[in-house]
Amino acid sequence: MTGGEHTRATHPPAAPVPEQVPLGLPVYRTAAWAFETAQEYADLLNGDRAGYSYSRNDNPTCVAFAEAVAAMEGANVPTPVTAQPFASGMAAIAAVFMTFTRAGGHVVAPREIYGGTYGLLTSVLDRFGVTATFADSTDPAGLRAAIRPETTLLWGETLANPTMTVADLPGLAAVAREAGIPFAVDSTFASPAVCRPLEHGVDVVVHSATKYIGGHSDVTGGVAVGSPELMDRVRHVRIDLGGVLSPDDAFLLHRGLATLPLRMDRHCRTALAVATALAEHPKVVRVDHPGLPGHRDHDLVVKLFDEGRYGAVVTVTPEGDRAAGLALCDALQLVRRATSLGGTHSKVSHVASTTHRQLGDAALAAAGIGPAAVRISVGLEDAEDLVADLVQALDQL
Ligand SMILES: Cc1ncc(COP(=O)(O)O)c(C=O)c1O
Repeated sequence: MTGGEHTRATHPPAAPVPEQVPLGLPVYRTAAWAFETAQEYADLLNGDRAGYSYSRNDNPTCVAFAEAVAAMEGANVPTPVTAQPFASGMAAIAAVFMTFTRAGGHVVAPREIYGGTYGLLTSVLDRFGVTATFADSTDPAGLRAAIRPETTLLWGETLANPTMTVADLPGLAAVAREAGIPFAVDSTFASPAVCRPLEHGVDVVVHSATKYIGGHSDVTGGVAVGSPELMDRVRHVRIDLGGVLSPDDAFLLHRGLATLPLRMDRHCRTALAVATALAEHPKVVRVDHPGLPGHRDHDLVVKLFDEGRYGAVVTVTPEGDRAAGLALCDALQLVRRATSLGGTHSKVSHVASTTHRQLGDAALAAAGIGPAAVRISVGLEDAEDLVADLVQALDQL
C-alpha cells in the first residue's frame, strides 16, 4: 500500500492466510470482513453465498466453539446437529424462549427450575404475553395435564438444582411429541460428557458454558444445540437480540471442551465419593446425589448418564436450621464459599440464603429443600482432602 503515513498505518499488509490447519484455535478478533466486490457483499447478506460479514451475525472462532459442542452433544444422533454460541447461559435460554414462544403462548416448565430462567419467564416474558405453568417434572401425567392448546414449548432441566432430580428425558420427550411441541432442556448441570439429551428425544439443548464447559471460572458463555432447522430459527433471534459471544471467550470455551470428559469423569467420581462419605456422618440428615443408590432417581441416572458420571453437585443437609447451614459453610477451610459451579475449585452455597433466597421455609420444604441445605460443587481436588474438610466442618456443628 502506498500513500501517506495515516493511510499506510490504517491499511497495513493483510495477515497471511496459512494453508496448514492450526492446532490451536485462531481468534478472529474482527467486527467486520471486507469483500472483493460490492456484489459479493450483497450476495452474502442475501444468503446467496457463504461467509462472514459482521461478528454479531457469525464469527469463525465462535462458530468453531459452537460446532465443537454440537459434535459432543450429537455424537450418537443419526441426523445432523448444529449449535449457536451466546454470551452467557441466560442469553442462550432467552433466545430459545423467544424463538419458541409468542404473545398469547404458554410454556410448561419444571417446578425446581433455575432461578434466572424462572425470573425470565415470570418477570420479563410475562410482560410480552407469554404465560408459564411450573409443574412437577417427575410426574409425566401431571405435565401432560399442564399442556394447553396454546402451549408452544416444554422446558426441562437434565439435573435440577439443588435436589439433583434427574429428568426422565425419554418420558418427557414423548409427552412433547404427543402434544406436537418442541422439548428443550437446560443441561448445564450435566454437560455433554455426562448425558446427551438429543439421544433421548430432546429437540434443543442449552448450556451455561460458564460452568463445566469453560471449567475454570474465568469466562461466561452459553450455547444452544439442535437440528439445523431449529438452530437457524434460534440464530435469527440471537442476531436480533445481540447477546453474542466474544471471540476471546469462544477461544477459552473451546479450549475448555478439550478436557471436559477428563474433568467431568474426575468431578463426578469425586462427587460420589464425597456424597458417600457425608451420608455416614452423624450430623447429616440428608445427602442429595443421584449416584447414591438411595437417591430417588438412581435407576434413571444409571440408564441415561454415562457410567460413573452421575453429576458433580452434592447437596448436604445437616441437622438444624438456617444457622447450621451457614455455620457449616463458614467452618470450611479448603472448600470456597462462592457462587456458580463447575470450576476447578470446590465451592459451597447455603441454598436457603443464596440460590433459593426468594423461597420461604414452606416453599423450600415443598421443593424438598431443608433450611440448612448446603450445595457443594465438587471441584478437581483430591477426594480425601475434600472429605476431611467437610467432616471437620460438620464435627464443629
Ligand atoms: C442451570 C443453570 N442454567 C443457566 C444458568 C445461567 O448461566 P449464565 O450465568 O452463564 O448466564 C445457570 C447459572 O448459574 C445455571 O445454574
